[in-house]
Amino acid sequence: MTDARIARLHGRRVWDSRGRPTIEVEAHLAGGAVGRAIAPAGASTGRGEALDLRDGGARFGGLDVRLALNAVNTTIAPALAGLEATDQEAVDRLLIGLDGTADRSRLGGNAIVATSMAVLHAAAAARGEPLWLHLSRGRPVRTPLPEIQIFGGGAHADRRVDVQDFMVMCPAASSFSEALDWTAEIYRTAGELLRKAGKLQGVADEGGYWPAFDSNEEALETLTRAIEAAGLRPGTQVAISLDVAASQFGKSGVYTLALDDRTLDSGALIEMLGSWIEQYPILSVEDPLAEDDHAGHAEFTRRYGHLCQVIGDDFLVTDARRVHAAAAAGEANAVLIKPNQAGTVTEALAALRAGRQAGFSTIVSARSGESEDVTIAHLSVGWDAGQLKVGSFSRSERMAKWNEVLRIEEALGESAEFSGWSALPFATTESAAVRP
Ligand code: PGA
Ligand code: ZN
Repeated sequence: MTDARIARLHGRRVWDSRGRPTIEVEAHLAGGAVGRAIAPAGASTGRGEALDLRDGGARFGGLDVRLALNAVNTTIAPALAGLEATDQEAVDRLLIGLDGTADRSRLGGNAIVATSMAVLHAAAAARGEPLWLHLSRGRPVRTPLPEIQIFGGGAHADRRVDVQDFMVMCPAASSFSEALDWTAEIYRTAGELLRKAGKLQGVADEGGYWPAFDSNEEALETLTRAIEAAGLRPGTQVAISLDVAASQFGKSGVYTLALDDRTLDSGALIEMLGSWIEQYPILSVEDPLAEDDHAGHAEFTRRYGHLCQVIGDDFLVTDARRVHAAAAAGEANAVLIKPNQAGTVTEALAALRAGRQAGFSTIVSARSGESEDVTIAHLSVGWDAGQLKVGSFSRSERMAKWNEVLRIEEALGESAEFSGWSALPFATTESAAVRP
């Protein structure tokens, strides 16, 4: 291993997949190793997330990152100089202490996460290892089950439909690459169905088709038909995964589905989602209720948690303490892991471990604002998370992650084990597979 002490950090402004400014950090180590990472950005954020520091004012709609960039180059860089890049916990502890706020608003969650991930990359480079291998520390790893968006909605498509993500999972595929093969066919056939119906209107923020549907359920019907038209069996080979992102259309137990022209209370929303679970091959639901609706989450998990993965995103915000609390209260059975929600790599790993300890399944996830950065592909394999959610099957900021896992799968060679059904929190694969 070359000398892994941090010699120099450099922050620069680059642009994300929505054409908005973001931060890239480069970490240079004493022995010459270099690591680089770009901060992603959410649009449907949870209240408890680490905050991105944005300049405000008129420039770029107030989204410029000069303040956060300044924090990297003048505050963070000198403070981290000399630290061992391989001691990620020490680096992250220092970053958290330097910021000193609970929501990372002083230096900026964007400045902190880009630094934390850049140092991680540099440490792997100093060891001469690919990042996933550096993270796995010799433990066995699996390639992740991908959750791939076919239709995008909610905050990512001007609220054209209320549900944010209509995704597919291919747990019966024999490998990660086969799961992508199947998804490619589904994405293509879904596009064909929309074109024939005169409803093809381009793509949403994460690359899924912009959903010109008349109801939320029409999206479910079309997706089920697309799976069949691709020559695959809904339920047994390919399942539907939803991110309801209910905080975006409800709070305090009142939910307004604009497309369906209905206002529901928590119980009625649970009933509606339950009827979808019974009628369509849905095996995963994220954020079925709003982030403040703890009783609703507990009720939903009690009723459907044996049939379906129940993922906490907005209300767990990649926070180990919240994951423990949700597990104790039975409010989910899976946790989404977004490094920039937590703030640092160490905190994201702590949330993943908390989930694993609780028997939750774990899903490493991108944000709606992304870049060519592929760190999360490595985290999903190196931490053996089991699942990876990146958005759709178009737009290069999404494809970059899928393609990176293909490279990792190839590097793993014969020993590449695909997580498939084992990634999901059901007692048996059969209990899931017998459903519609
Ligand atoms: P984001 O949301 O727009 O905040 O990245 C993605 C998600 O809800 O999973
Ligand atoms: Zn979500």
